[in-house]
Amino acid sequence: MTNEEMLASINDMMADIILKTYSDPIHAKDWENLRNDLIKVEESIKNCDVVKERKRPEGVEPEYEIRPYRDEDLEDMVRIWNEVVDKGREFPDETRLGKLSGKKFFSSHTLTSVAVDTWDGSVVGLYVLHPNNIGRCSHICNASFAVTEELRGKHIGEKLVKDCLEKAPRYGFRVLMFNAVVKDNEHAIHLYERLGFVDMGTVPGGFRTNDGAYKDIDIFYHTL
Ligand SMILES: CC(C)(COP(=O)(O)OP(=O)(O)OC[C@H]1O[C@@H](n2cnc3c(N)ncnc32)[C@H](O)[C@@H]1OP(=O)(O)O)[C@@H](O)C(=O)NCCC(=O)NCCS
Repeated sequence: MTNEEMLASINDMMADIILKTYSDPIHAKDWENLRNDLIKVEESIKNCDVVKERKRPEGVEPEYEIRPYRDEDLEDMVRIWNEVVDKGREFPDETRLGKLSGKKFFSSHTLTSVAVDTWDGSVVGLYVLHPNNIGRCSHICNASFAVTEELRGKHIGEKLVKDCLEKAPRYGFRVLMFNAVVKDNEHAIHLYERLGFVDMGTVPGGFRTNDGAYKDIDIFYHTL
């Protein structure tokens, strides 16, 4: 088995362990300990000479993998999230994340995953997945996606959304629903429609912009 293959199977195991902390809450601490051990194994593999400080050779296309986030990703994740919040055009959030609030925020979701450049390990995008409703509707989930500004339009978002669609049923979710897609967010809408999301209609003036205007938002869903 190559180092890359070992890292890939560790990623799969991490995703399963996160799942176990939900499906087997009595042993959540044990699953957490196992996850921490796996992170150490992963770090040792990464520090082997073979993959150490690997840089993408010139002319080689970047490759991205999606995996659950780790603490060391948080700085990049906060930056990517804040890029979107600062623009005030897509996310309803108005408050920027800081170091501590970011850690709290990203750990509060059912699943938070990142898109990582496989050559240098840099974080280039993320998604958060959580319930959209409670009780009898708690099988409907909601997610938010963000890709670092300079790398948008390169299908990293597509990988993130596809991963989310694949992982969400593992947590018992049956429908993925977006409550507030700003109608002029054409690239996001293009992506969602291409991946089979259904546009349920428009909430007129549902999004307040920085200059106090109100823009229409659409609601989208995808059965899982
Ligand atoms: C929405 C978002 C996550 C999509 O990520 P992405 O990596 O840019 O998405 P993709 O490249 O997979 O798909 C976007 C589509 O728009 C096209 N596109 C063209 N120019 C683009 C641009 N400047 N930015 C984004 N998409 C662009 C892409 O080519 C692609 O179309 P295609 O599948 O026909 O090639 C990303 O644009 C983003 O972070 N936006 C700000 C936050 C946001 O809007 N989140 C969603 C809120 S509902």
